[in-house]
Amino acid sequence: MSSGEAIRIDVDLMNTGDLDEILAIERESFQAPWTKRMFIDELRIRHAQCLVVRAETDGEKRVAGYIIFWMVADEAHLHNLAVSKEFRRQGLAFSLMGLMKDIAAGVNIEKQTLEVRESNSAAIELYRKCGFVVKGRRPKYYTDSQEAALIMWAGKWQD
Ligand SMILES: CC(C)(COP(=O)(O)OP(=O)(O)OC[C@H]1O[C@@H](n2cnc3c(N)ncnc32)[C@H](O)[C@@H]1OP(=O)(O)O)[C@@H](O)C(=O)NCCC(=O)NCCS
Repeated sequence: MSSGEAIRIDVDLMNTGDLDEILAIERESFQAPWTKRMFIDELRIRHAQCLVVRAETDGEKRVAGYIIFWMVADEAHLHNLAVSKEFRRQGLAFSLMGLMKDIAAGVNIEKQTLEVRESNSAAIELYRKCGFVVKGRRPKYYTDSQEAALIMWAGKWQD
């Protein structure tokens, strides 16, 4: 996409037809990318919310990013979030995080939580901008690198 070009965005439910594009974004985004099977499993779980952002450029619609979160009891728990390198720093992840908050609020869920690699400063900045604060740390949480996870919360986590 050339810089300054207008893009049209819409958000949709994820479906299996999106998975090839999603897996390409997944591989460019994570050192331990999810497999196709992991996405298919999420699509089958009733309390998992799986959304994609599609971007239209030059008349062609492509997956630009996605979010997966669970709503269980009184918590929304972020499971996966990524935006294609081509579409980063345009507010897409911020919008997806806003949707998680709004969808959860729609069923009276005010607490949101997530784990993030301690070194992932881009994601940590994003989550801070979305109102999350660090409330805990799990050493060696990520088995591929032994890296610690920060546990972040937003909403009525003080209760
Ligand atoms: C983290 C990620 C999802 C952000 O997506 P994005 O669509 O580019 O983010 P946004 O444009 O919505 O950014 C919103 C805010 O997040 C912060 N942010 C995003 N990317 C950042 C970066 N590279 N460096 C610092 N802050 C960043 C900024 O505060 C930004 O606001 P600003 O643009 O007004 O400064 C994206 O970089 C990504 O897919 N990374 C790889 C996968 C990943 O780490 N996922 C999270 C796993 S926990």
